[in-house]
Amino acid sequence: MRDPKSLSRERFAEHADDYVRSQSHAGGADLEKVVELSRAQPEWVALDVATGGGHTAIAIAPRVAGMIALDLTAEMLTAAAALAAERGVSGIEFVLGDAEKLPFPDESFDLVTCRIAAHHFPDVQRFVDEVARVLRPGGRFVLQDQCVPEVAASAAFLNLFERLRDPSHNRALSQRAWTEVVGRAGLQVEEVASFEKRHVLVEWARMQSCTAQTLERLQEMIRDAPEGVRAWMEPTGEGSETSFTIWQFVLSAEKR
Ligand SMILES: C[S@@+](CC[C@H](N)C(=O)[O-])C[C@H]1O[C@@H](n2cnc3c(N)ncnc32)[C@H](O)[C@@H]1O
Repeated sequence: MRDPKSLSRERFAEHADDYVRSQSHAGGADLEKVVELSRAQPEWVALDVATGGGHTAIAIAPRVAGMIALDLTAEMLTAAAALAAERGVSGIEFVLGDAEKLPFPDESFDLVTCRIAAHHFPDVQRFVDEVARVLRPGGRFVLQDQCVPEVAASAAFLNLFERLRDPSHNRALSQRAWTEVVGRAGLQVEEVASFEKRHVLVEWARMQSCTAQTLERLQEMIRDAPEGVRAWMEPTGEGSETSFTIWQFVLSAEKR
C-alpha cells in the first residue's frame, strides 16, 4: 500500500486549482461556524493546518495579527498564496509542513484551525497532540471535518466509498471518536455543531478525476448500500443525477 502522505501530495498537487475554485471549499455555513468559534482576537497569532486552497486562513487572517498557513503540498501553498493576493488579503505566511510534526516551538499560537483535511492524516492523535503542544494555555482549536456514523460497519462502508474516489482519504471518524481524541490531547471540548453538505456524485468524483469505471462503482455502492448507510447518505436521483449527503462537524476546544 502507498504511503498516504505521498498520495496526498501527489493528488493535491494535481488538483490544486480545483480546490481553490471549489464552491464547497470556498465557503458555506461550516466555514462561518469555524470563524465564529475561533473567537479570533486582533492581537492573536493563528495557524491554519492543511490550508489547501487557503479558504480558512483567508477568512481568519484579517481578524488576527499573524496567520501561518501550513500544508504538505507545495503546489497547494502556491495556489493559496495566489488566492490571498487576488482577494487582497496580506500577512499570511505560507509554510510547507506536516500536520503530525508541526515545525513550531511549544506554545506559539493563540488559535489553530483545520478544515476539510484531517481525514487524510494517518495518525489523528499525533496531529491533535501537536496542536495541543503548539497552543498557548487558553489557546483555541477549531476543527472541521467530515464524519461517519458510530456504527462500525457503516463507518467502514463510508470510508471505503470515500477512498474509492480519493485514494488519499485515510479515515473519517465519528463525532464521538473525535471528542475522545481531542480530550486525550488534554484539550477541553466546548462545542460541536453538525452540518449536512449535499454533493452531486458526478461533480464530487470529477474533483478527483475519477475514471468512468470508478464513477460507475461509486454509483453501484450508493445503490446497493446497507440501510444504515442509506439513512446517513440520504441518496436521491439516479445515474448522473445521483446526489448524497456528507455529514460534517465543527468542534471547538480550549487548552486550559
Ligand atoms: C481539501 S484540502 C483543505 C481545505 C482547506 N483547509 C479549506 O478550508 O478550504 C486538504 C489539504 O490537506 C493537505 N494535507 C494532507 N495531509 C496533510 C498533512 N499530513 N499535513 C499537512 N497537510 C496535509 C493536502 O495537501 C491538502 O492541501
